[in-house]
Amino acid sequence: MSNLASVGVMGMGVMGSNLARNLARNGYRVALWNRSYGPTAEVIAEHGHEGDFVPAEELADFVASLERPRRIILLIKAGGPTDSTIDAVVPFLEAGDIVVDGGNAHFADTRRREEKLRAMGLHFVGAGVSGGEVGALEGPSIMPGGSPESYEALGPILEKISAKVDGEPCCTYIGTDGSGHFVKMVHNGIEYADIQFIGEAYELLKALGLSHDEMADVFATWNTGDLDSYLIEITSEVLRKKDPRTGEPLVEKILDSAGMKGTGTWTVQSALDLATPVNTIAEAVFARAISSSPELRQAAQAALTGPEVKIEVADRDAFIEQIRQALWASKVIAYAQGLDEMRMAGAEYGWDINVGEVAKIWRAGCIIRAKLLERIRSEYAANKLVTLLEAPSIVAELARSQDGWREVVAAAAKAGVPVPGFSSALAHYDQVRAPRLNAALTQGLRDYFGAHTYRRVDDEGNWHINWSTDGTEESADTAV
Ligand code: 6PG
Repeated sequence: MSNLASVGVMGMGVMGSNLARNLARNGYRVALWNRSYGPTAEVIAEHGHEGDFVPAEELADFVASLERPRRIILLIKAGGPTDSTIDAVVPFLEAGDIVVDGGNAHFADTRRREEKLRAMGLHFVGAGVSGGEVGALEGPSIMPGGSPESYEALGPILEKISAKVDGEPCCTYIGTDGSGHFVKMVHNGIEYADIQFIGEAYELLKALGLSHDEMADVFATWNTGDLDSYLIEITSEVLRKKDPRTGEPLVEKILDSAGMKGTGTWTVQSALDLATPVNTIAEAVFARAISSSPELRQAAQAALTGPEVKIEVADRDAFIEQIRQALWASKVIAYAQGLDEMRMAGAEYGWDINVGEVAKIWRAGCIIRAKLLERIRSEYAANKLVTLLEAPSIVAELARSQDGWREVVAAAAKAGVPVPGFSSALAHYDQVRAPRLNAALTQGLRDYFGAHTYRRVDDEGNWHINWSTDGTEESADTAV
């Protein structure tokens, strides 16, 4: 039995040290390295008893302590620090060794790094790791992309340390080069939308006059049904939490300015490049942007008027149920958009992403883990779907939810409660199912001012009206 380590982790921050502890708890001998030795020493001092660690101060010693093919997992800040760490370790590596970036890297960076290391005979794997610090320690959802050969050496280890559902790992081979980080990016885009919908439900419940404990109870109840999910569960806890300083509901003491590290933004930017609609995810990104634009908000608050933010209904419980329907339906739209984006990316970048399998590994460990994901997995397993929105059980549930969804969006508009997520999701629902869209008029206007031509419903080819002369129609396909 070699006394070399099976796997190495570079970066002893919370994510890196927790992942290293997870690996050790699963019986692997784990090599540890950090740019400065202090954090490595701390891991050994505090957790050395948890498993078989091989700490190294020098990079050469770290690499030398690893069995071949070397499997090295980086949990380093995305961007420059990741590149510099890769550049530092690569000179010590040999053909066939595997470098895994477990951070939230942009998939284009991963494609670049994978190509660069492949030219050196090395494998570079971009692995989305979702579940935060707790997930890293207890079992994350892991989305590795890279060469199939790298997954042969790496997959069993990642599957063993990942979250499990009925014994099945929440880790699977996603596809080549940047596919894993692309899927993680979409995960985060959906996460943004999920969080936005929860926030809109919270604002509506508040406008109904519920106390924070009553709102916490509503979310706790929703968490026992189709909305069962990690984010709904922790929403109940956050709403129930009292400010340690004042005893008031903590959430009302939190500045309403949302941060974002960029993965949701990337999801929307990539979708624009792919011409695939993720308008609901985009609304979540822009809602965060508005919340963190104090100058715009102060000016608008001073200038603009609106109705009193108060919703009065005859049957409060019935309206709360309608809010639940709006939240569930909007969530489905956001998931459908994200899954569609993955499908479009696969076609564009040459990845064979199995959307159903992605839903399967999102069922536990990750931040968007939810009961809905099992339904999505089973629908993709049972049906050949272009979009989640045609899955039989989803279609039926959306049909049952749409009246309540429409009532909520209308009530919110009348009460001046902003629900960009709910309303954009409803607009997406109505757009994709519409037999005719206003794009017909768009084409007419474009032909009028720019001679951009149009196609007809009753003929082939491209056509143009001579708007400024005799108004006749002519074929735009005639040879110039
Ligand atoms: C996860 C989380 C993780 C991180 C978010 C925060 O999947 O474990 O999504 O990646 O907490 O990226 O992102 P924002 O700061 O952009 O909300």
